[in-house]
Amino acid sequence: MIPINPSADNEQYDVPFILDNMGVDFLIFKGKVLDIGCGIEARLVEHLRKKDIQAEGTDAALEIKRSYLTRAFDYEPIQRPDNHYDLALSHMSNFRQGTNVFRQILFHMLEESHFNLVHAIADKAMLGCIKQTMRVLKPGKELRIFPRPNYLLHTYLGEIESQGIEVRTEKVFDKGIERLDRVHLAFNIIFKSPSKALFEQEFYYRTILTKPR
Ligand SMILES: C[S@@+](CC[C@H](N)C(=O)[O-])C[C@H]1O[C@@H](n2cnc3c(N)ncnc32)[C@H](O)[C@@H]1O
Repeated sequence: MIPINPSADNEQYDVPFILDNMGVDFLIFKGKVLDIGCGIEARLVEHLRKKDIQAEGTDAALEIKRSYLTRAFDYEPIQRPDNHYDLALSHMSNFRQGTNVFRQILFHMLEESHFNLVHAIADKAMLGCIKQTMRVLKPGKELRIFPRPNYLLHTYLGEIESQGIEVRTEKVFDKGIERLDRVHLAFNIIFKSPSKALFEQEFYYRTILTKPR
């Protein structure tokens, strides 16, 4: 199954998996969270709100209407004031989906077995998204991206860092690796790629961008 519309019973997208990959301790977290590419049901946002965390989400394909969810394609400007959020998250949303572009990506993956092409095509939108997100984040606060957007960092690291944004990478913790290996298996069945080495370069890591103080 191609994971375009992730559902709750798909372990690639269930809330515990997302939480593991984001690496935030929400038991002690306080403040406002933005989930970028939150998915059609905004499951992480709903989960966090049940725990009294002020979570909001944005996604091109949202299927539910809530005051705290914004339907926006290509991560259009987030209608929030500057310095608003204490944390921003992007889980498995750095590929563009549901469009001709997505089909194009699939084509390339099948033809060339080159996983990083996913990012090559989606990067412009992601770079715009990073700029927007830095605007709405409070100074010193983080945007956490999973999986690591290797191609984006390879191409735009200088540009990102020149804005004073600190970029670091963390390995997702070992508990998640076994599960990620099953995700790799699923991707291989769908795409006949990527190689395990390419998969690991991205899916074993999250990238954290910190807005300058
Ligand atoms: C694989 S799903 C992940 C959803 C959720 N973050 C999760 O982990 O369950 C990717 C989501 O990103 C959204 N998305 C991808 N590209 C987007 C874009 N350019 N603008 C807005 N949303 C986008 C899709 O609509 C989709 O819901």
